[in-house]
Amino acid sequence: MTHPGLRRQYVKLCDLRDFADTAVRERIDDIVPGLEPSQRAHRKNWEYALLALFLEDAGLLGEDTTILSVGAGHETVLFWLANRVAKVVATDIYGEGIFGGLEADRSMLTDPASFSPYPYRESHLEVRHMDAKQLEFDDGSFDAVFSLSSIEHFGSWADIRRSAAEIGRVLRPGGAAFVVTECFVSRSLLGPRAIQEAASKVAWPIKIFTPQTLESEILEPSGLELAQPLDTKPPDTGGNVIELHGGGRITSTTGADFPHIGVRVQRFGLRTRTWTSVALAMTKPSVSDA
Ligand SMILES: C[S@@+](CC[C@H](N)C(=O)[O-])C[C@H]1O[C@@H](n2cnc3c(N)ncnc32)[C@H](O)[C@@H]1O
Repeated sequence: MTHPGLRRQYVKLCDLRDFADTAVRERIDDIVPGLEPSQRAHRKNWEYALLALFLEDAGLLGEDTTILSVGAGHETVLFWLANRVAKVVATDIYGEGIFGGLEADRSMLTDPASFSPYPYRESHLEVRHMDAKQLEFDDGSFDAVFSLSSIEHFGSWADIRRSAAEIGRVLRPGGAAFVVTECFVSRSLLGPRAIQEAASKVAWPIKIFTPQTLESEILEPSGLELAQPLDTKPPDTGGNVIELHGGGRITSTTGADFPHIGVRVQRFGLRTRTWTSVALAMTKPSVSDA
């Protein structure tokens, strides 16, 4: 059932057309100040803007709200939220794994302010080292839980299902979750798992989802409900595809950095299908709904 009060489609693939939405553009400029207009069209900015707008629509951007981020890194939206809600808790395996010197830099634990582009209410942001597969919080601890571009890095399908269950567990009944991950933009004659395994064989160490695996590996284990049906309409990527070659080398089919919406791996003479970010806006049924 569609959640009442939602002013736009949130359960969808990143699409260049979304950046024409004035509210999306305003949130991007607010959360990530200083961008040139052409630089807005990046799926990371889209994730931040849709998260902020979904929380606003769900009535969860107030001074009484507690929010958890899972696989948070040092994402800019943490600082923006700390200026608006009672408490933001950022969790990640800081200092470990392939992101240890990157998004999950250990210094986020001791000096988060060094990652913020603007002043923020430091007492409203807590940063903790924590594995997404075992969140150290009681059931129903948070009004909202989000995870941006991280769940695909959490390991095996079993690890992903476990972290999805943890997200659902620590969310309070009636609360809202927002998970963004990677999803192929077009269908294939191969089965969904076969597509995934083929992509992995091209040596890219993350999971890319399909509508089917979003359902079986995230939604079902989380115990949450989609706030809206998933819109699988093929997105407009602006005619540009970002190509990942490994070893940090990145090119694009047009030679331009933007739009940064469609992505694929081009490696070892092989090319994966194109994927982009997909947002899953979810709710946890309140006790009276159950
Ligand atoms: C691509 S980064 C995204 C970071 C951030 N959410 C953002 O949007 O900038 C993926 C993050 O997932 C984190 N991660 C990987 N495995 C994890 C795990 N088991 N538990 C918690 N975080 C994990 C990484 O450390 C990294 O910070």
